[in-house]
Amino acid sequence: MPEVLLSGCKLGLTKEGKMWLGVLLVLLLCSSLEGQENSFTINSVHMVILPKQEVQNGENLTLQCIVDISTTSHVRPQHQVLFYKDDEQFHNVSSMKSTESYFIPQARVYNAGIYKCTVILNNKVKTTSEYEVTVRGVSSPRVTLDKKEAIEGGVVIVNCSVPNEKAPVHFTVEKFELEAKVIKQKREKTSQHQNFVTLDFTVEEQDRVIYFLCQASIVSGRHVETSETTKSDHVTVRESFSNPQFYVNPAGVIIEGDQLHIRCTIQVTHMAQAFPEIIIQRDKTIVGHSKQGNEATYSVMATMKENGNYTCKVETSQISKVSSIVVNITELFPKPKLESSATHLDQGDRLNLWCSIPGALGVDFTIQKGDVNVSQAQNFTKIASKWDTGSYTCVASMGKVIKKSNKVLITVCEMLSTPRIFYDSKFEVIKGQTIEVHCQSINGTAPISYQLLKASNILENYTVGSNEPAVFKDNPTEDTEYQCLADNCHSSPAMISEPLVVKVIAPVVEVKLAILNNKQVESGADLVLRCFVNKASGPITYKFYREEDVRPFRVTTSNETQAIWYKAQAGMEQGGQYYCTASNRANAAKNIPQSNLLTVRVFLAPWKKGVIAVVVIAVIIAILAVGARYYFWKKAKAKQMPVEMSRPAAPLLTSNNEKMSGSSSEANRPYGYNEDIGNHEMNPVKEKKEPLTLDVEYTEVEVNSLEPHEGRGRKGTETVYSEIRKANPGRKQPWSRAQPDPQNHSRQNLNSNMFPDVSDADNI
Ligand SMILES: *[C@@H]1O[C@H](CO)[C@@H](O)[C@H](O)[C@H]1NC(C)=O
Ligand SMILES: *[C@@H]1O[C@H](CO)[C@@H](O)[C@H](O)[C@H]1NC(C)=O
Ligand SMILES: *[C@@H]1O[C@H](CO)[C@@H](O)[C@H](O)[C@H]1NC(C)=O
Ligand SMILES: *[C@@H]1O[C@H](CO)[C@@H](O)[C@H](O)[C@H]1NC(C)=O
Ligand SMILES: *[C@@H]1O[C@H](CO)[C@@H](O)[C@H](O)[C@H]1NC(C)=O
Ligand SMILES: *[C@@H]1O[C@H](CO)[C@@H](O)[C@H](O)[C@H]1NC(C)=O
Ligand SMILES: *[C@@H]1O[C@H](CO)[C@@H](O)[C@H](O)[C@H]1NC(C)=O
Ligand SMILES: *[C@@H]1O[C@H](CO)[C@@H](O)[C@H](O)[C@H]1NC(C)=O
Ligand SMILES: *[C@@H]1O[C@H](CO)[C@@H](O)[C@H](O)[C@H]1NC(C)=O
Ligand SMILES: *[C@@H]1O[C@H](CO)[C@@H](O)[C@H](O)[C@H]1NC(C)=O
Repeated sequence: MPEVLLSGCKLGLTKEGKMWLGVLLVLLLCSSLEGQENSFTINSVHMVILPKQEVQNGENLTLQCIVDISTTSHVRPQHQVLFYKDDEQFHNVSSMKSTESYFIPQARVYNAGIYKCTVILNNKVKTTSEYEVTVRGVSSPRVTLDKKEAIEGGVVIVNCSVPNEKAPVHFTVEKFELEAKVIKQKREKTSQHQNFVTLDFTVEEQDRVIYFLCQASIVSGRHVETSETTKSDHVTVRESFSNPQFYVNPAGVIIEGDQLHIRCTIQVTHMAQAFPEIIIQRDKTIVGHSKQGNEATYSVMATMKENGNYTCKVETSQISKVSSIVVNITELFPKPKLESSATHLDQGDRLNLWCSIPGALGVDFTIQKGDVNVSQAQNFTKIASKWDTGSYTCVASMGKVIKKSNKVLITVCEMLSTPRIFYDSKFEVIKGQTIEVHCQSINGTAPISYQLLKASNILENYTVGSNEPAVFKDNPTEDTEYQCLADNCHSSPAMISEPLVVKVIAPVVEVKLAILNNKQVESGADLVLRCFVNKASGPITYKFYREEDVRPFRVTTSNETQAIWYKAQAGMEQGGQYYCTASNRANAAKNIPQSNLLTVRVFLAPWKKGVIAVVVIAVIIAILAVGARYYFWKKAKAKQMPVEMSRPAAPLLTSNNEKMSGSSSEANRPYGYNEDIGNHEMNPVKEKKEPLTLDVEYTEVEVNSLEPHEGRGRKGTETVYSEIRKANPGRKQPWSRAQPDPQNHSRQNLNSNMFPDVSDADNI
């Protein structure tokens, strides 16, 4: 830069000449300029696309980048010009010119894109806006073929290319028949990496002279650019075999029963490597074929079945030639028609089948059931049995021609036998048990539908496909009557079985014991116990037990839901705890329910206590009277002789003993049926104790047998009851065997002396 300025100063020097002052001035000016930086600015930058932004494929394309720079310098500054296509720099140049160009000869599709240029001046950068360049059209493709002559079934390889373009290119290749001028085949392919494709085309049977057309398309931005179509050379096709020829024998009218002969032939050229396969088809069915030789045949007796469109196909792996012929066979007689008066019959009805062919004469008829001839006539009639169920056809024949009719299905329904009803349990049915009720009609056509009726209501339906029994499950809770209905195809109404009565025993579940009167029973009153169950079937066995006795004291069997035990004039010994059990045959031995424990108290009737008191007082009075009399007698006699005075009245005791031993035989009896139970220990208390007060308690007392009256044979200790008078404590314990109280000793002695019968009773 300084050199340029210097040259400018030199230039000024030559122009000014001899003006020294001027020279000095310029030098001064120059030197002053030299000391300063020049200023540059890019005013604008833009592009010009020539001839225009949209060009035809093959046109020359020029890209110009034009920059307008202002500067303080006298010379244009050097700047960089960068060209971009689709944001990628493809050209840069350092320049001092205001216009830089980039030339693209013969623009192709790949030249299309978004262009821009950037100018760099020192550190200043300015870029143009974007210019879209479009290239219209694709250069014409080239088509080459691998051969000029081909055989039917052969292959022609077509190479289509666009040498000036870049991949990816989409090619469309079409095969044309020269004479027909129609597209025989069209193939398309996109080549991703090369600008050509090679495609195989098969030569077909109808092809004679063929050629190919190729077209290339390239995607450019948002557009698809397409080339002209290019035509290939011609290919001449040679035939490998001729079209098949059909021959049908007899020629003319073919009548059913005639021998039909169909033949298909071809001519094969010497160029063919192998014989093609020949197939004769009637509609879709192959009826004849040949893999060797040049003909196939089909020979058969003409029937209506042979009518149809026959085709002969000759096939190699690639080609197939077809010709067809319609064979029309004249019918000798029409198909017979089998009819029936009814198809569903009851056994015993008349079965009537007849076969007919309208207007046919001299035809033989046979009626068949399955494969068995049942009639050699046109009609078949019989009384239907169940064995006649089946499929019937009619066969009509005339000479060799045999025709089968439609099938007629006949169903003969056998009437049901009265259904048998039974159930599985051999024993009685216990409530809650499930039973299986069987219904069976042994005879009659299946399927049979059964209905189980329970107390005249339909319980369940069941259809059985055989004569096996229908099984119904039920859970009867009480005696139940079952019946079953059976019905089948027979027109008669449903058959009903005999009623089946199933007895159901309800086991005893709960048992209770109650006393009919008050629990506090007055001795001598009636004691009535009632053992009852809730709901159970008879006969029921009731057992009454007392306390912990192992054996029941009463056993009774009844159809009632209760049993009564009656004890007239209950004694004290009936007091205690009772329970009962009840069971019937539905109860397992281990599962016999037991009632509640019932406590019964027996208390002494007040009048009895009164009687005892009166008796005791009477005895005391008697003793006192005897004592008084004796005293007076003794007093009188004392004057005459001495007297012994120690023995109490023995006869009373003796009589008492006898009574006790008499009743003791009863004491050993078991508690029994309404019999009076002799509780020996209680009797003396009741009958002989002095009822000094109403409030009485019994206490168990051990009595030593070493009593004055040992002679009666009592030994050891015995449990006895002792009455204790609460109301008069002072007069208590007269019979107690407690330790002798010194204070009461004399009274005890007195008592034992005074009431020898009572102490005697205690001992028993
Ligand atoms: C295109 O440019 C080539 C030189 O690269 C030139 O020979 C040709 O004549 C030009 N074609 C047109 C139509 O200007
Ligand atoms: C200009 O192109 C050359 C090679 O042609 C390259 O080395 C240089 O970096 C480019 N300059 C810029 C600024 O891209
Ligand atoms: C198809 O032709 C192009 C030139 O037109 C050639 O470059 C290419 O190799 C050919 N392809 C084949 C498979 O012959
Ligand atoms: C017979 O079959 C061929 C091949 O399926 C068909 O082209 C032809 O039209 C048929 N002819 C008649 C008369 O149906
Ligand atoms: C077959 O031949 C009969 C006469 O013999 C004719 O009436 C009928 O139309 C023909 N059927 C076909 C399909 O050609
Ligand atoms: C049944 O009838 C057919 C046709 O009438 C006949 O050909 C065949 O011999 C008969 N079969 C018997 C077992 O009679
Ligand atoms: C066969 O039965 C049909 C109908 O029942 C009757 O019209 C016909 O006369 C019968 N034919 C013979 C040969 O019995
Ligand atoms: C079932 O039918 C046979 C004969 O088929 C007969 O002997 C038998 O008695 C019938 N049984 C009943 C239950 O009807
Ligand atoms: C059993 O079938 C009869 C008629 O077939 C019908 O009326 C009835 O409702 C059915 N009962 C049951 C329980 O399915
Ligand atoms: C109980 O009833 C059955 C029948 O239900 C009867 O045979 C039997 O005699 C009855 N027994 C008594 C004790 O009544």
